[in-house]
Amino acid sequence: MQIIRALDALKPALAQLRGSGDTLALVPTMGALHDGHLALVAEAKAVATRVAATIFVNPLQFNDPKDLARYPRTEEADLARLEAAGCDLVWLPTPAQLYPDGFATNISVRGVSERWEGEHRPGHFDGVATVVAKLLLAVRPTHALFGEKDWQQLAVIRRVEADLGIGVEILGHPTVREADGLAMSSRNALLSPEKRSKAVALPTALHAAGKEIGAGGAVGPALERAKAALLSGGFSTVDYLALVDSRSLEPLEKPREPMRLIAAASIGGVRLIDNIPVTLEQQVGR
Ligand code: PAF
Repeated sequence: MQIIRALDALKPALAQLRGSGDTLALVPTMGALHDGHLALVAEAKAVATRVAATIFVNPLQFNDPKDLARYPRTEEADLARLEAAGCDLVWLPTPAQLYPDGFATNISVRGVSERWEGEHRPGHFDGVATVVAKLLLAVRPTHALFGEKDWQQLAVIRRVEADLGIGVEILGHPTVREADGLAMSSRNALLSPEKRSKAVALPTALHAAGKEIGAGGAVGPALERAKAALLSGGFSTVDYLALVDSRSLEPLEKPREPMRLIAAASIGGVRLIDNIPVTLEQQVGR
């Protein structure tokens, strides 16, 4: 596995990697890798002949400097895991390489980025859209893979690709979960053992609401019950818990496929997000 740090080493390394017409899949990450990231690398290997990853804790997408400062950084272990997973190249850019002096360009996506995370983390999706566009333009992969845990992020990135025509196939990969159902996330490492065991209330509440709505239950009360379950189950705040159109992320008062339940809530000072698809049960006579 080639480890690239200097920007001028990236181009020749990529040219060599792509060689005679190989396809190249990119897995952009912020490090602190877990099995969810490794599932992206495995999927990347299945769709392309070559696989590259990036590790970059992107300052532009952190609206809270304290959140940036405490974001877990585990570079040595990350490199070992990527190598073992069969990654061909890792690029670890520095902030100065991606955002040189005088950097003044911002990619801002209207519509799909505005609600939910966009509302609670002002500027977050501008930072994501800008860095992802930069990474895709620098690496020029044929495919790029992102986890579905960040459902809204995936929708924003699809919008960027569609609007700018970078020429990369954007692929989402289903959320990888711990044995108890908690979505894998680099932020889980910040939870105390007590809060970690309680954090499973998040997927549990989503599944209960999803079951209720899928069986024809009213949306509003199902969402209220799920929020109450989070607050009584150890979460301190629920930023949102909503039923949305899977593509536009617009809220739904009545079920309409394709739809998802999305949520963001904090426990022990750690903000977690999750989402699940919801399908309507086929009911005889409907
Ligand atoms: O999902 C992430 O880890 C980040 O938001 C991404 C896509 C690597 C951009 O920094």
